[in-house]
Amino acid sequence: MKPLRRSALTGIAIAGALAALAGCGGSGSGSSAAELSVGASYMPQPVSADMAAGFLTITNKGGTQDELTSVTSASAGEITMHETNGGAMEEVTSFKVPAHGQLVFKSGGNHLMFEKLKHRPEQGDTITLKLKFAESGPLTVEMPVKSATYNPSTGH
Ligand code: CU
Repeated sequence: MKPLRRSALTGIAIAGALAALAGCGGSGSGSSAAELSVGASYMPQPVSADMAAGFLTITNKGGTQDELTSVTSASAGEITMHETNGGAMEEVTSFKVPAHGQLVFKSGGNHLMFEKLKHRPEQGDTITLKLKFAESGPLTVEMPVKSATYNPSTGH
């Protein structure tokens, strides 16, 4: 019997396709400073205005590491940053954005936690966020509110 390798190969092919998708957009390279851009942001519609989660990806095309130090929005009284370790989430005060790398917030992993929302966000709304960094200037993100069960890999 030959060993079954099909599933491992399929996994590699999917990983490659995702890497190619993540690489689109942006411009320039070879700069030594951090060069940040934000993509793939969304908030699943929350059940109440008490708490909501948000996800995004920060890409650094530059040769210097930066650090996400705060996230604020006029729509929320407080936004905290959480990481997930072994199924338990922990609040952190900053996240590194590696040189020539990405900081990824995704369901089940790193996430933003919105509290004290002014209104319950509904699908179709947009939440405006301001991201602050240790080195780079602030970035503004227009985060769309998606359905409660939105899955970025299927787009539904
Ligand atoms: Cu959390």
